[in-house]
Amino acid sequence: MPQSLQIFLDIATEAALSGGAVLQNYWGKLEDIQEKGRPGDLVTEADKAAEKAILEVLHRHVPDHPILAEESGKLEGLAGDYLWAIDPLDGTTNYAHQYPFVAVSIGLLIDGVPQVGVVYDPIRQELFRAAKGLGATCNRRPIKVSQTDDLSKSLLVTGFAYDRRQTPDTNYAEFAHLTHLTQGVRRDGAAALDLAYVACGRLDGYWERGLSIWDMAAGIVLVQEAGGQVTAYDRSPFQLSSGRVLATNSKIHDSLSQALLQVGSKARNLIE
Ligand code: IPD
Ligand code: CA
Ligand code: CA
Repeated sequence: MPQSLQIFLDIATEAALSGGAVLQNYWGKLEDIQEKGRPGDLVTEADKAAEKAILEVLHRHVPDHPILAEESGKLEGLAGDYLWAIDPLDGTTNYAHQYPFVAVSIGLLIDGVPQVGVVYDPIRQELFRAAKGLGATCNRRPIKVSQTDDLSKSLLVTGFAYDRRQTPDTNYAEFAHLTHLTQGVRRDGAAALDLAYVACGRLDGYWERGLSIWDMAAGIVLVQEAGGQVTAYDRSPFQLSSGRVLATNSKIHDSLSQALLQVGSKARNLIE
């Protein structure tokens, strides 16, 4: 199995670099920016062209594998144990504003479990790669999560989903609480790259709700293979379908989980 994972990792890399080249070409030259439905949920010609380039690579190498791609939806294949989860441009809002924090995210689920992940930042030209049992790298050098073991000394990151105007579960209370307890909480606007930054130790932990499979699949392999921990907020096993993730360097995992649950119970008390 590791040998075939290496092959899939190389295919994912080729696809991510191909999508990344498209994003480099459109950078600063966007003409078509549209809202997809929910306020602030944008799509541009760069998202669509990057996805096309990625799909071309996957169709060439693994024509029978099903693909779930953000802009095309689910493209059925035959090999049911596999699912490629593609975000051709994670951080579209950043991209549209030329805020340089964007990525291509390519994950491969085998039997429903993310096992291969590539996240490519085409602006900094940083290529994060991981496969189960094969470790994690950035630009081919091994990466590890940070050693921070005290929540009060940690630097975290989170995000706010596009449904934030329609749900009471906004993540604003969690953001305020953790900002108070830590050295800071960043909101950088690209979930896949947030996870990659936890994997390489620039950030100590990340949580978010309202995510899609293509936002998380690649990044969680990076964090796990770099020595971190990925669970639900309450430390129960992570479920991709929940849209919620808690990913840390593992050393602050329990304290960050407790802090998030405290916010949840306070909010429930206010409602009851
Ligand atoms: C979004 C980004 C953002 C997160 C949103 C995602 P997109 O992806 O990852 O950081 O907060 O929930 O939808 O729309 O830029 O691909
Ligand atoms: Ca995304
Ligand atoms: Ca996207």
